[in-house]
Amino acid sequence: MVDRIGTNALLNMLGDWSLGRGLPLHRRLSEAMLGVIETGVLAPGTVLPAERALSRSLAISRSTVTAALNDLKGAGVLEARQGSGTRVVGSTPRAMQGATVLPGILRSNGEPQHGLIDLAASTPADARALPRVEVDLDSLLRAGPRHGYTPAGLPVLRKAVAERLSLGGLATELDNVLITNGAQHGLALALNMLTEKGDGLLVDDPSYPGIFDLMSSRGLQAIPLPRRSGGIDIVGLRRLVRDHKVHLAYLQTSVHNPTGYVAEAWQVRDLARACDSLGLTVLEDLVLADLRYDGTRPTPLAGLVESATVLAIGSISKLGWGGLRIGWLRAPTSILDRLVRARLSDDLGSSIPSQVIAAGVLANFDSVAKVRQETLHQRSQSAADFLRSQVPEWKLTLPAGGLSMWIELPGPLAEPLAQMAGRNGVSIASGASASVEQGAERHIRLCFDRPESQLLEGLARLVSAWRSLVVAD
Ligand SMILES: Cc1ncc(COP(=O)(O)O)c(C=O)c1O
Repeated sequence: MVDRIGTNALLNMLGDWSLGRGLPLHRRLSEAMLGVIETGVLAPGTVLPAERALSRSLAISRSTVTAALNDLKGAGVLEARQGSGTRVVGSTPRAMQGATVLPGILRSNGEPQHGLIDLAASTPADARALPRVEVDLDSLLRAGPRHGYTPAGLPVLRKAVAERLSLGGLATELDNVLITNGAQHGLALALNMLTEKGDGLLVDDPSYPGIFDLMSSRGLQAIPLPRRSGGIDIVGLRRLVRDHKVHLAYLQTSVHNPTGYVAEAWQVRDLARACDSLGLTVLEDLVLADLRYDGTRPTPLAGLVESATVLAIGSISKLGWGGLRIGWLRAPTSILDRLVRARLSDDLGSSIPSQVIAAGVLANFDSVAKVRQETLHQRSQSAADFLRSQVPEWKLTLPAGGLSMWIELPGPLAEPLAQMAGRNGVSIASGASASVEQGAERHIRLCFDRPESQLLEGLARLVSAWRSLVVAD
């Protein structure tokens, strides 16, 4: 069977290919393509999209695409086959099937890129939200076992997480908490335990891009549950469970990435009843739950279900800083014990200094959360005011929590806009990184958690990219 790669998947792999001064555009494209071919991300034998489709999505001329492909044909990396398009030379099997790859700065490995303003990665701008926490050798030695390995997590942090969850209405003991290397690791561990290649997973769509990456690397099939009026569609959920006979779901039940929608307490109660009656196992993503701008925190699904199994996943990354790589997974002890054993063979445990700092963040939870909520609220307003005045043709709903907004464009132009924006010095995520639904090409995800001046400069560059795109059309 011939592997064909779609335009969106290819563009995701290429990342911010057009950045970098000094080289003509076609060379920047050919070098980026060479990079993904040489690293095996784009595997031998893969057939590329048609030149016309590439030129449209990359928002560059057809002759630029042709020149880039000719460079690679000349170098013997690509070959044109009569009637079957252009393919990567060779025939070894593909290493990575259709990975979506996280957008923005996660691709750039955090390197500053020629003044690029990153509005793509849904992360705090930097570590400034962290409170002052003293970490010296004595405190590290006191914190845990002398050898420094804590497969289930440092007791002081597990206890702090359990207390925080209990305060939020989800009664939790230390034994229910596993500390992970960020929420992404928690999701990976849970999927490893609960799924096999080829299984289906229900996902409310649009969703957090990282869940699609995890599914793709495990060969899982996404069963999208389009959200209705912003929230989880319970009628749709019942139908999909019945039609697909699938009993595992990934749901963002509180604050939603990318839309910034927040669920009311009654919606989560209704969802809990549905999960009980359907016998679902749910990965409940609560990573943004502390970032509701009104400061409330309704009881999560895990605290409301009676018979359904819920694995609740949280993190310090959005409240504090992703660089700590600390998250947690809250589950019934029978499941947690299995997860700890699985985790032990993976990485032996999370970093003790990071865990000590994370415990310090939780000890200051009220003040840290309040500042984060107010800052995010204000930044979301500034972004919305600016965009509404400059591009009234874009549809956006003001977020009530979180770091990002989901914007509907007046046409399927998200990918060309993301490309044009990158060349204008601002990165955004196109809808296809956060959704497997058709309408994704009309949407972009924008992270507004940046200092005001940077945010407004980034938005100005984005608007100017939009104008040049629609004028060129
Ligand atoms: C909804 C959601 N879940 C999980 C994650 C992963 O978080 P972490 O940095 O803790 O791995 C993110 C990060 O963007 C997120 O937005």
